[in-house]
Amino acid sequence: MFILRTPAEMRAWSRSQRFATETIGFVPTMGALHGGHAELIRLSASENTQTVVSIFVNPAQFNVRSDFEKYPRTFEADIAIAQDAGATAIYAPTSDSMYPVGYRTYVEPGMAADPMEGEGRPGHFKGVATVVVKLVNAVQPHRAYFGRKDFQQLAVVNETVTALDMDVTIVGVPTVREPDGLALSSRNVRLSHQARAQAPVIYQALTAAREAYKQGERSRTKLESIARDVLQTAVDANVEYVTECNAVTLLSTDLASENSVMCIACWFDDVRLIDNIALS
Ligand code: PAJ
Repeated sequence: MFILRTPAEMRAWSRSQRFATETIGFVPTMGALHGGHAELIRLSASENTQTVVSIFVNPAQFNVRSDFEKYPRTFEADIAIAQDAGATAIYAPTSDSMYPVGYRTYVEPGMAADPMEGEGRPGHFKGVATVVVKLVNAVQPHRAYFGRKDFQQLAVVNETVTALDMDVTIVGVPTVREPDGLALSSRNVRLSHQARAQAPVIYQALTAAREAYKQGERSRTKLESIARDVLQTAVDANVEYVTECNAVTLLSTDLASENSVMCIACWFDDVRLIDNIALS
C-alpha cells in the first residue's frame, strides 16, 4: 500500500501509473471509513486497475469549528478497510500541504449548492468544491466515485467539474444502508441508544413519500407532508428540512416528476443526519 502525503508526491505517483497505462479510480473521503465507503472503493477497484482513497478531514467544509475537531479520526483502521476493499494507494495530505498559512483561493460552487444543505450550512459546499478540485488535481484520476447518500454534494461536484472543464468522470454510487434502512454514516456512532433506535424513521419517511408517488400523488407539498408526518412519529427527531427537488437542477416545482428526489435533514440530539430517495 502506497501512502502519499503531499500533492507533489501524489502527482508523481499518478504520473508513473498513467505512464504505465494503468487506469486510476479515486474515492475521496474524510476517513472514519465504513461499509458505505468500502462499497465506493470496491466499485472503483472493479472498474480501474489502481484505486486511490484520500483521507483528509477538510477544515474548509466545516462551518462549526468544534464539528471539525470532534470528527472521528481512525487512520490505522481506515487503511485496513481501504486495503481490504481493493485500494492500492492512500492519499492523506498534511494540512500544511493543502492549506498553507495565508491560503485564500476557493472555488465558488454553482446553483446546485444553493438550497437545502446550502441554507443550513453556509460555505459548506464552497469548502467541498475547493477540496475536491484540489484532490482531483493531485490524484489525476480517470474516474472519481461519490455516494448518492450525499446527493446534493454529488450534484455540486458534477456541476463543478463541468464548469471547470475537468478531465474526470464522476460516478454516483447507490446508498448503502443498515438492515433497518438507516444510511451508513460516520455520524451514526455518535447517536445515543435511543436515537439509534429511532433514526430508521428517516428511511421510513422517504419510502412513504415514494409509495405515495407510485400511487399517483404528484403534489410536492403533499409528498413532503407525508414524509414529515412519518418523521414526527419519532419523539426525538428534530426536522431541519423535508424537500422534494429535481435531481439535476435541484429546483423544487409544484409537481413531482420522474426526476424527483425527496431529501431529508434531521437532527437527533446534536447529530445531524441526511438521506434521500429517488421517487420513481
Ligand atoms: P465522507 O463523508 O467521508 O464521504 C466520502 C464518500 O462516501 C462520499 O462520496 C459519500 O457520499 C460516500 N458515502 C458516505 N456514506 C455512504 C453510504 N451510506 N452509502 C454510499 N456512499 C456513502 O463526503 C465527504 O466525505 C467529503 O465531503 C469529501 C467529498 C471527501 C470532501 O471532503
